[in-house]
Amino acid sequence: SAADFDLFRTSEEHEMLRDAVRSLAEAKIAPFAAEVDEQARFPQEARDALETNDLHAIHVPEAYDGSGADALSTVIVIEEVARVCASSSLIPAVNKLGSMPVQLSGSEELKAKYLGALARKEGMFSYALSEPEAGSDAAGMKTRAVRDGDFYVLNGVKRWITNAGVSEFYTVMAVTDPEKRSKGISAFVVEKGDEGVSFGAPEKKLGIKGSPTREVYFDNVRIPADRMIGAEGTGFATAMKTLDHTRVTIAAQALGIAQGALDYAKGYVQERKQFGKAIAEFQGIQFMLADMAMKLEAARQITYAAAARSERSDPDLTFFGAAAKCYASDAAMEITTDAVQLLGGYGYTRDYPLERMMRDAKITQIYEGTNQVQRIVMARQLLKG
Ligand code: CAA
Repeated sequence: SAADFDLFRTSEEHEMLRDAVRSLAEAKIAPFAAEVDEQARFPQEARDALETNDLHAIHVPEAYDGSGADALSTVIVIEEVARVCASSSLIPAVNKLGSMPVQLSGSEELKAKYLGALARKEGMFSYALSEPEAGSDAAGMKTRAVRDGDFYVLNGVKRWITNAGVSEFYTVMAVTDPEKRSKGISAFVVEKGDEGVSFGAPEKKLGIKGSPTREVYFDNVRIPADRMIGAEGTGFATAMKTLDHTRVTIAAQALGIAQGALDYAKGYVQERKQFGKAIAEFQGIQFMLADMAMKLEAARQITYAAAARSERSDPDLTFFGAAAKCYASDAAMEITTDAVQLLGGYGYTRDYPLERMMRDAKITQIYEGTNQVQRIVMARQLLKG
């Protein structure tokens, strides 16, 4: 992997990766995207295609049987998958989200065991931070982990857990010292098969319907103490550091959705004839397309700039991760909404993919921290410096 990359131009290797993922996504993932959405079913075809080609978690270092790809490569994979199916793009995105706490803060043993298992396709990873009463205020969580000899016993409920039930492995943030708020939270790896782990019914969502979102219940789940990620009390910081990196992947998802919508709408306006000519010949349509492409390119540049900082773990990643996620998701919502508009009545029907893309775009403004939370994060960074 190239540890450094030119901010203003992607390398030939990155563009080769993009071409490869685009072909794979168009052949093996796109054909099922409408059905996956309509039936709200898990995109198993996408999982198979990504795993067969070792694209499901390319961020895992080579030392743990992974590809050791850089942050920009992960962005490109997510972008290209999201361009055809946003639900499927959550496979590589959430595999990174769930495993980053281990990668950033885990012991060598935990890394070898769990990053290795992820790379070897033994199971997917999810991330369990949010709770019914602790969404934006993540440190207000109630899930408890109590030490009992060489074990911890977990009790509580996590909500909005992406790919819950499908994933084999979960990073779970839980309170080990209720007196200390964020400094009393610790992170653990919990396995789906651990006794006392169960799942709620899938949420009925507006978009990303192919990616199951469920509650996860912990009922006296007894896990070995060495499943703790890092030291006791460091779980919240690990969770926030993880989000610094993975907000870049949500920006990538937003880019991909927006690119898919722009590409489709661009093709459509050149075919669609009204008043005796293709509607692409009308300046009103051209101005819309130009604005969409301009916003998309600005979003892409800030996202790649954030990916470069993620790769180097720069101190200003916290700002850039939040800025990229916020900017790209707002752009994706605008671009997909305009794409529906360009198709007129057709855009509003399920016979065309634009309404799905518009519904899928909406979540990128909400998860991994609402765009209001991103502004809190950015402002704190600004005022700190
Ligand atoms: N890096 C390292 N450490 C950090 C950090 C960061 N970026 N941010 C916070 N910390 C640590 C620090 O140690 C800090 O203590 P100090 O101030 O002493 O340094 C400690 O955490 C507490 O931080 P804050 O005081 O900033 O905590 P807060 O309670 O005010 O919360 C917040 C800040 C930004 C609002 C945070 O709660 C937040 O990000 N909320 C949104 C949560 C979120 O993004 N949830 C998404 C869930 S995952 C998801 O959506 C996945 C999916 O489905 C795909």
